[in-house]
Amino acid sequence: MSFVTYENKGAYGIITMNRPQALNALDSQVLDDLSAALDEVDLNTVRALIITGAGEKSFVAGADIKEMAGLTKAEGTAFGKKGNDIFRRIETLPIPVIAAVNGFALGGGCELSMSCDFRICSDNAVFGQPEVGLGITPGFGGTQRLARIVGPGYAKQMIYTARNIKADEALRIGLVNQVVSQADLLPTAEKLAAGIAKNAPIAVRMCKKAVNEGLDLDMDQAIELEEKLFGECFETHDQKEGMNAFMEKRKEKNFTNN
Ligand code: CAA
Repeated sequence: MSFVTYENKGAYGIITMNRPQALNALDSQVLDDLSAALDEVDLNTVRALIITGAGEKSFVAGADIKEMAGLTKAEGTAFGKKGNDIFRRIETLPIPVIAAVNGFALGGGCELSMSCDFRICSDNAVFGQPEVGLGITPGFGGTQRLARIVGPGYAKQMIYTARNIKADEALRIGLVNQVVSQADLLPTAEKLAAGIAKNAPIAVRMCKKAVNEGLDLDMDQAIELEEKLFGECFETHDQKEGMNAFMEKRKEKNFTNN
C-alpha cells in the first residue's frame, strides 16, 4: 500500500500525502512513495501539479521523528539527502507545483511546501520549523528555502525560536499567497492549476526556469537567461497560436505544448 496517491485530472494532477496515523509524517517509505508518485506524472500532458495532505488536520507534520531518533551521523546525513533529492526534484519539475496546505506543515512539511512554486493554505494551517527543539537543524532545505521566501530575518527568527505560526501570519510574511477555508482549499488550488494549464505550456515552463535559475545569477546573467528563454519560445506552435488568437480577436486558444 502506498502512503502517497496520484490522481490525474487531465491538464493537472494531484498528489496527496496520506499517512493519517502519523499526520502524514515523512518516513523513508513515504519519501519513496512520493518519488514514485512523481514518476507517475506524465509531463507531456500534465501542465500543473498540486500537492496536498489527506484529511483536515495535517499537510505533513514533518520528517518522522520515531525513524530519526536512532540514526547515526552517517544515517542522518543520508536521510537528509533522501528528502533533499526529492524536494529538489519537485522544485525543478518542469511544470508548476502548487502546495495546498490543509493543516500542519511542520519541519519537513513546511519544507515540502516550500519546494513547491507557491503555497495556498486553509485557515487552520500551521507552519513552523521546530527542529532545534528536537536537537537538529531543518534537514530538507528549510534553512535555505525559508530565507529565500520570507527573507533571512523572519526565517532565522522562526528557525531559532522553533515557534509555529498560523495561517494569517504566514500570509503576512509572504510564506503563503492565499488563505481560504478548508472546504475551499482544493477547489481554489484546482482553479489555479486549471488557470495555469490554459496558458502555453512551453512558455510557463520557460518562466519557471527563468525565475528559479535567474534568482541564483547576478542581474546581467539573469537578464541574459531571460533573453535566451524568451527567444526559445519563438517559432513554436504555441507562440504562433497565442499571437494569432490575439490578432484574430479569438478567445479560444489551442495550445499543444509544441
Ligand atoms: N514524526 C512521527 N510521528 C508523528 C509526527 C512526526 N513528525 N508528527 C505526528 N506524529 C504522530 C504522533 O506520534 C502520533 O502518533 P501516536 O498516536 O502513535 O503517538 C500521531 O502522529 C498523532 O499526533 P499527536 O497525537 O501528537 O497529535 P496532536 O494533535 O496532539 O499534535 C502536532 C499535532 C502538534 C503536529 C504534533 O504531532 C507534533 O508536534 N508533531 C511533531 C512536529 C515536528 O516536530 N515536526 C518536525 C519533525 S523534524 C523534521 O521535519 C526534520 C527535517 O527538517 C527533515
